[in-house]
Amino acid sequence: MGVKFISTGRFLPDKILTNFDLEKMVDTSDEWIRTMTGIRERRIASDEIATSDMVTEAARIALEKGNLKPQDIDCIIVGTITPDNAYPATACWVQKNLGLKGFPAFDVSAACSGFLYGVIIAKSLLESKIATNILVAGAEMLTKVTNWEDRNTCVLFGDGAGVAILTLSDDNSDILSYNWGANGNLGELLIQPAGGSRLPASHETVDKNLHTVTMDGKEVFKHAVRWMAISAEQALKNAGLTKDDVDLYVPHQANIRIIESTIKRVGIPREKTMITIDRIANISAATVPISVDFAIEEGRLQRGDILLLNTFGGGFTWGALLIRW
Ligand SMILES: CC(C)(COP(=O)(O)OP(=O)(O)OC[C@H]1O[C@@H](n2cnc3c(N)ncnc32)[C@H](O)[C@@H]1OP(=O)(O)O)[C@@H](O)C(=O)NCCC(=O)NCCS
Repeated sequence: MGVKFISTGRFLPDKILTNFDLEKMVDTSDEWIRTMTGIRERRIASDEIATSDMVTEAARIALEKGNLKPQDIDCIIVGTITPDNAYPATACWVQKNLGLKGFPAFDVSAACSGFLYGVIIAKSLLESKIATNILVAGAEMLTKVTNWEDRNTCVLFGDGAGVAILTLSDDNSDILSYNWGANGNLGELLIQPAGGSRLPASHETVDKNLHTVTMDGKEVFKHAVRWMAISAEQALKNAGLTKDDVDLYVPHQANIRIIESTIKRVGIPREKTMITIDRIANISAATVPISVDFAIEEGRLQRGDILLLNTFGGGFTWGALLIRW
């Protein structure tokens, strides 16, 4: 039996922050942001909600679309680097919000690859018959860990959640192959330095803005293209397929120029590539499931299609997942 995506759901906060709004906050321009990143606007969560609330909303939609009740879920995995709290896991709050208890609920910390890592873990839990219906989410509130005075980073990120419900397949749908990896030697290049055991929260860490995203953009860019391409090619090879078999490619949306360089390298046409960065910016782990949800809604993904998901993020971590939808 294969592993099937029963349904998906997404939550995007209502509040929109455009590039023109950012022009009033830092020394930037709509033109620079659009040309250099492909972003036009991003969503900003209100202060009243936390990451688990966004996942819960997206989960309710996915449950409804999948014709399932919350009680049908027996495992929750949330990929996030912006959890509600250091602990308990955001997945545990989602379990509570859905009125559930008893089964395992945990977070995966793999930055932008969090959703993909979660799906790969879910696949093996389903195949081992450890769970029957798994809710996997990618969710972030990156605007809460953004330095709004740093034009190098504050224009890049947004908030939102995407979920998928996975089960063992009774039809042709399947996860055909995957590739995943990490290189901890390069962790310093994309990091939230403070707030953990290395550098606990203090007045000094707050004053120095060390609880926000810090990165070497150029290095991240270079490694992202390289490892997304290698990973995508390896997943295709593992399944005995080629780039020409791919019906839809959904890459992580960090920068339109990263996406363009990667598709050029792998040889996937732009028409087969899902691009959402203009409207949602980079939402780390949430980007891929939200983009898949948009693709379904826009009629770009049908049952039987070959779907290639591809990510890269802090860690560094990366992954590619090849699915017969
Ligand atoms: C951030 C990123 C868009 C910057 O693009 P870049 O080509 O590396 O550009 P640079 O950082 O060299 O900056 C070029 C110039 O633009 C300026 N600049 C940076 N941000 C700016 C902004 N928001 N508005 C206007 N100018 C800006 C820089 O100060 C620099 O000016 P200088 O030449 O006078 O020093 C790009 O590196 C990137 O997307 N990297 C990946 C980041 C990412 O996705 N991280 C998450 C990983 S999943």
